[in-house]
Amino acid sequence: MDKLIVEGGHKLSGRLNISGSKNASLPILAAALLTDEPVRISRVPDVSDTNYMIQILSQLGASVERSSGTVRVESPDGISSSASYEQVRKMRASICLLGPMMARMKRCTLPLPGGCVIGDRPVDLHVKAIQALGARVRVKGGNMLIEAPNGLVGTTVDMRGDNGPTVLGTDNLMMAAVLARGTTVIESAAREPEVVDLANFLNKMGARIEGAGSRTITIHGVERLHGCEHTVIPDRIEAGTFMVAAALVSNGLRICRICREHVQSIANLLVECGHSVEFSADGTEVSVKPGEKPLSGKITTAPYPGYPTDMQAQMTALFSITPGISVVKDTIFPQRFMHCSELKRMGANIKVDNGTAIITGVDSLSAAPVMASDLRASAALVLAALAAEGTTEIHRLYHIDRGYEMLDDKLLSLGAVVKRVRDVEEEPCNEA
Ligand code: EPU
Repeated sequence: MDKLIVEGGHKLSGRLNISGSKNASLPILAAALLTDEPVRISRVPDVSDTNYMIQILSQLGASVERSSGTVRVESPDGISSSASYEQVRKMRASICLLGPMMARMKRCTLPLPGGCVIGDRPVDLHVKAIQALGARVRVKGGNMLIEAPNGLVGTTVDMRGDNGPTVLGTDNLMMAAVLARGTTVIESAAREPEVVDLANFLNKMGARIEGAGSRTITIHGVERLHGCEHTVIPDRIEAGTFMVAAALVSNGLRICRICREHVQSIANLLVECGHSVEFSADGTEVSVKPGEKPLSGKITTAPYPGYPTDMQAQMTALFSITPGISVVKDTIFPQRFMHCSELKRMGANIKVDNGTAIITGVDSLSAAPVMASDLRASAALVLAALAAEGTTEIHRLYHIDRGYEMLDDKLLSLGAVVKRVRDVEEEPCNEA
């Protein structure tokens, strides 16, 4: 296991390219199981979560080759319908194998993902969706045993949960429905760009999906899907993380290979908080500079196009040294505040109560040894460390390696002083 040593106070500058989206890549890789023809997926970030997914596909019997960001997957007939707990437990997002495995094999055994540090993470909506298409679900020995001996049949399913729509639940239902008999209508579908990217990928494979990106998605089942080529969308959360880094500790950063629409809510918040944000005319680049008089702010996370839960920890780091009182409420994962205790160890003044963090800006943060607890919490700690006085050690770096491609190299290229070193470490856990 590694830790990151960050010497604070060096202003970042320059430009960087954003990687392909981790959260779009995961279901798209799983969807490659829907055909026996080869698919080629480009700009898959080289992070541990995509590597876990590739390992699972290989274990199921698919042949997978990865070379410089492009992954080729071929899943011949006869692949296994059973995923191992050893693999699945490493990554909660492996639940998105459910839809493609059921569509292709009409049966599957999938270990139930446990909870994780950002919350309980139930899968009731995934189960409800596959049952609505005619599958029978039993739980035995920690596994979901799912079968649809008569095949899957399209229907209308409302996917709204208590905390809003579900992203991977929508993905699963869409992937299960593409080869189902008849038409499936998903009501209260997630509108996230990653869902749209998956729908575009499936349509390239020959699926007939309409309405992705809106609250209602209609899927007309087809007999079979074929191979295709696809380039994954830019990672809006990585882009947002660097946008916050630019506002926090830079002389200005130019962040390239982004999609303006996908980061608009983050840009709006930074502008409201007094920072300078300018997009290129084609919306593929954004330049962010710290404002002269940064202002405190208020966030309530919401499903897309609202402010993303995956960007609240990073913004909390910025608010920690922004004058005034800021408020961050997470309606999607109300327990996702582990980073706050660590930020407090660096001198932040934060009170967390009932899904809300109240942050009173301090003049500066000071370096401390801190512990990453999940992917976005670790990003927040890196940001805080870049701005802090002194040298911070961030332990459990494996959390950040799940979702940020070459973060230390990217930071070094922008003038940060960071070093990855070996650490005596514990077990990885599963949060994304
Ligand atoms: N929910 C249910 N029942 C379900 C599924 C979800 O009640 O069956 C609830 C969740 O507990 C949560 C809300 O619905 O309160 C939304 O969760 P969602 O299902 O949308 O989360 P997810 O699809 O499992 C993805 C991302 C997360 C991101 C969330 C929300 C991937 C691989 N993961 O998870 O990303 O936070 O959507 O936008 O796409 C991350 O990248 O750090 C990460 C955690």
